[in-house]
Amino acid sequence: MRSNMSSPQQKTIDLNLMRVAIGLAERHVGCTYPNPAVGCVIVQPVNGQDPPIMVGRGVTAPGGRPHAETLALAEAGHRAQGATAYVTLEPCCHHGGTPPCADALIQAGIKRVVIAAIDPDPRMDGGGVAYLRRAGVHVTQLTLPPDLAQRSEAVIAGFVKRVTTGLPLISVKIASSLDGRIATGGGESRWITGAAARQYGHLLRARHDAILVGSETACRDDPALDCRLPGMAAFSPIRIVLDGRLRLPIAAQLGQNAARLPTWLFTDGAAAHPPAHYQALKQTGIEVIETTRDNSQQLDLTKIFTILAERGVTSVLVEGGGQLIANLLRQNLVDRLYWFRAPVIIGGDGVAAIPTAIYPTGLALADFPRLALIRTEIFGGDDQGAAQAGVQAGVQAGVQAGARSEGQNSLVEKLEVYHCLRYG
Ligand SMILES: NC(=O)c1ccc[n+]([C@@H]2O[C@H](COP(=O)([O-])OP(=O)(O)OC[C@H]3O[C@@H](n4cnc5c(N)ncnc54)[C@H](OP(=O)(O)O)[C@@H]3O)[C@@H](O)[C@H]2O)c1
Repeated sequence: MRSNMSSPQQKTIDLNLMRVAIGLAERHVGCTYPNPAVGCVIVQPVNGQDPPIMVGRGVTAPGGRPHAETLALAEAGHRAQGATAYVTLEPCCHHGGTPPCADALIQAGIKRVVIAAIDPDPRMDGGGVAYLRRAGVHVTQLTLPPDLAQRSEAVIAGFVKRVTTGLPLISVKIASSLDGRIATGGGESRWITGAAARQYGHLLRARHDAILVGSETACRDDPALDCRLPGMAAFSPIRIVLDGRLRLPIAAQLGQNAARLPTWLFTDGAAAHPPAHYQALKQTGIEVIETTRDNSQQLDLTKIFTILAERGVTSVLVEGGGQLIANLLRQNLVDRLYWFRAPVIIGGDGVAAIPTAIYPTGLALADFPRLALIRTEIFGGDDQGAAQAGVQAGVQAGVQAGARSEGQNSLVEKLEVYHCLRYG
């Protein structure tokens, strides 16, 4: 099998096994911070003709340890001798919380390592490959086809951003009406979107290390901010609220669940707040983190995200509200925008998704940054009055009417995912 590692047949085998390793890594995206989710597959060649046999599989464990290679080697046991390891990210060669994976692979007798990506961590950056090669291990970095490259990049995007910029990957989720309203004039926002879109929202929560809201959303909506998909409670992210004036009620769900789910509250001058409220919040299990305000007298977002990155957080999903999102956009801090649009029109008295100006006054239209569309998904909207109202009103703008067999409640909801291009 190793006689011709550049043959078309071997390349196909390599890509297929890397696809399996990437699939493994994808399972733990959002729960391995401060480490990236890595997948590893170990295979034994049989002879020059037959496909190899898989003898070990591993994915970075929740919390970041053990690493994927350690778990895959443990499963392979003595069968790792002479085997090939497919690892989605260059194996580490530095002593961190665990011994280097490169050493473990060498000591287990792995003869060939195939990787999908180089680790951009300055402590690594090709060092793992060089280390393995010095020990006589054959290392191949695959050139992936576009679909696989995109999946491989997505798995490590947060980790790459944290180690290269000192900030986590910042995604914003907005659920709005067709006319871009996130609540009615009376402040009602539950639920603008339907069940399928909301379930996808929970999946997004599971796939981020942390979820962040402004204090107004935390106080008005009293969200739990956990992942409530069946069987995925353990994937709930760290819950974070920006609460400069320390207004979060003690009875809020964020406080009531804080003993079970990590909950961080950023504020400034906490000591200046009523001591009883401050102490009571801390007693719920909420960790209160002191920060400072920026020139606009809001909590300093760059500083907050820097603190999060220092704590190992690689990705943050911001779930509103509008003031917070507007500030994030104004400060060029948003990497991805997940925009759900429901088939309902609220009108001008509703709460705008982006309620304040984010670019300089008088900017020419041509100079407004255009976002890059990453993908669009459609969710069935068959469970709600909003869809029904849309049908009755004959709303057709941008949504598909019709084709589902369940009946007339079939206007669909659309998710558009954007890459936010940097401004200025
Ligand atoms: N449909 C949806 O997708 C959706 C999602 C979420 C919320 N909502 C709705 O949105 C409404 C709340 O949104 P909102 O825009 O009024 O408030 P918000 O963005 O949730 O919270 C704003 C507050 O957060 C605090 N904050 C701290 N640092 C900040 C910073 N750097 N930038 C901005 N805010 C900062 C400020 O209070 P302090 O001075 O106390 O720090 C500020 O007043 C609610 O009606 C809610 O139902 C809708």
